[in-house]
Amino acid sequence: MPDIAIVADRLGWEERSLIERGASFGFRVSWVNDEDLCLGHPGNPALAKFDIALIRSRSYTRGGLIASLAEANGTRVLNTSHAIHTCENKAALRALLDRAKVPVLDYRLVLSRKDFTKAVDELQVPVVLKPVFGGMGKRVTLIRHADSAQSVYDYVEDLGHAFEQACLVEPYLGGTSVRCLVVGRDLVGVAEFASAGKDWRSNAALGNENRALDHDPELVKIVDSVVSELGEGIYGVDLFRTQNGYVVNEVNHAPAFRAVATATGTDVPSTILGYLQELLQ
Ligand SMILES: Nc1ncnc2c1ncn2[C@@H]1O[C@H](COP(=O)(O)OP(=O)(O)O)[C@@H](O)[C@H]1O
Ligand SMILES: [Mg+2]
Repeated sequence: MPDIAIVADRLGWEERSLIERGASFGFRVSWVNDEDLCLGHPGNPALAKFDIALIRSRSYTRGGLIASLAEANGTRVLNTSHAIHTCENKAALRALLDRAKVPVLDYRLVLSRKDFTKAVDELQVPVVLKPVFGGMGKRVTLIRHADSAQSVYDYVEDLGHAFEQACLVEPYLGGTSVRCLVVGRDLVGVAEFASAGKDWRSNAALGNENRALDHDPELVKIVDSVVSELGEGIYGVDLFRTQNGYVVNEVNHAPAFRAVATATGTDVPSTILGYLQELLQ
């Protein structure tokens, strides 16, 4: 019976449903805590027995490191370290997609107050300030008024350390975003996320509202190009709708999928386990 590891900091609905459903696909699926892998040991004791490891760390620094060392020690991982490292860095991801002619959200890389001032001047409020390395909406800040911009930046300058200071500034593109859930190469569900009203952000982790959307050919084409760049995997590709079509905001490499599953009625855990069967044949 193939052994599948779910490497994660904790078990959410997604991980639990994969573990519960695993046996009916002929798998033993186990949670492996990402906090005590102590990778680097040449015998790879933490992961050697697994046929594949699903990297589901929510931390925005652990996933890529774990995937790189696991791969180096001969453990197959999903997603690949290349994909995870790229998705973890919002600037690197957009640069890669932009080069591949995938439409991405306009942005400026902000490494200093000078950059920040220039970016706000160029893009004009409302703008969004966010960390290059981040997740779950943390520190993603909507700056509606130019006169409060510099005091918001004080927190980055005074409290951020090294990589924490690397930010993006980008235009604010409204209250809804579109999540495309990808398994393998396939778009398996599309949902629109809207803020539930108490917070301007629409992250599922913050309690959003969502509804299913059709598989618009424009979305299918964008998702296909994203997968061509990152390789097959499990992704949450997040986009905004603009007057000139969709633009990619970010790609989540360990996406939550409960909201898309509920909104679209898609059995996402079974789709993922079916994909794993194909991979491990
Ligand atoms: N440029 C933007 N325009 C409008 N909303 C945004 C923008 N950037 C981020 N948001 C909102 O903030 C949320 C979190 O930002 P995101 O870039 O997805 O970072 P994270 O990795 O923390 O999820 C998004 O889901 C969206 O609701
Ligand atoms: Mg996001």
